[in-house]
Amino acid sequence: MTNDKILFCFGMGFAGGALGRLLLAEGWSVIGTARDAAGCNALKEAGFEACLFTGIEPGEDVAELLASASHVLNSVPPGANDPVLTHHGADLKQYADQQWFGLLSTVGVYGEHHGGWVDEDTKPKPIASRSLERLKAEQDWQAFFEGMVIDPHIFRLSGIYGPGRNQLEAIKRGKVRSIVKQGQVFNRVHVEDIAQFLYGSMLTPKAGHVFNISDDEPSPSQDVVSYACELLGIDPLPEVKFEEADLSPMARSFYGECKRVRNDRIKRVLRIELKYPTYREGLIELSAAM
Ligand SMILES: NC(=O)c1ccc[n+]([C@@H]2O[C@H](COP(=O)([O-])OP(=O)(O)OC[C@H]3O[C@@H](n4cnc5c(N)ncnc54)[C@H](OP(=O)(O)O)[C@@H]3O)[C@@H](O)[C@H]2O)c1
Repeated sequence: MTNDKILFCFGMGFAGGALGRLLLAEGWSVIGTARDAAGCNALKEAGFEACLFTGIEPGEDVAELLASASHVLNSVPPGANDPVLTHHGADLKQYADQQWFGLLSTVGVYGEHHGGWVDEDTKPKPIASRSLERLKAEQDWQAFFEGMVIDPHIFRLSGIYGPGRNQLEAIKRGKVRSIVKQGQVFNRVHVEDIAQFLYGSMLTPKAGHVFNISDDEPSPSQDVVSYACELLGIDPLPEVKFEEADLSPMARSFYGECKRVRNDRIKRVLRIELKYPTYREGLIELSAAM
């Protein structure tokens, strides 16, 4: 029987790290993977146990450490296949003592809704290849867990921001333009809200559920940029029409879909409120900490 307070996180990046820090503060042990030695060292310096998982082959120490975990989070983005399922699915099956399995996915699976609202019952119709891969990964994991004691929890995340990764920092580095596309909105979510919802789910598993983790206010990106400028005490950035912006294919693909994401289910089921309901609360806190 495993200790009941050990998280194994495949792909301990921005979101996994925020969850890991929350868990350490709550007395948990946390094991995370990174793709290289420097990444593993950074995890160790942050107080986590770390092991290498490149996604290209099984991680040497992964199976053994995984066997000790009570909870497992998969935060690794899939390609054509999910590397965690490919290389460590058999280990998960073998040591199926885990009480909870979470998969981080994306609201991109919903595809284009012309500004309409989507919730977890909305049929996914991804457009971008990365979103098609996400939906396949969700389905592959659901099939994998069929007949097993635990079911996966699937969390569809909006655009993540937080300390070190936000519009305030990006503006200061000169990495932001105020792109305007008529009618376009995006949802976002603060990384600490992701962590608190994941933790809430780990404490009260609701197996088989799909949850959106998103803020309350889908907003145009130029509104976020101008609010960030206001907080930085600088003039608003000049607006650039989407049609005239020379965007990368990846950035352009984000503007090819417009939807408003409902987050009622996770708030209702876990009885947790967002710490940062909109980008304004998030950016105020981040600017105060800068
Ligand atoms: N960022 C967003 O706005 C957003 C929105 C919706 C969904 N998501 C998804 O939500 C999850 C968490 O996002 P995040 O921003 O916290 O991600 P992140 O900071 O990029 O962290 C991803 C983690 O996965 C590892 N990883 C990446 N590709 C891998 C591979 N092929 N094999 C093994 N490990 C791999 C990375 O390793 P290293 O530490 O060595 O780099 C890192 O630890 C990801 O799946 C992401 O795609 C992100």
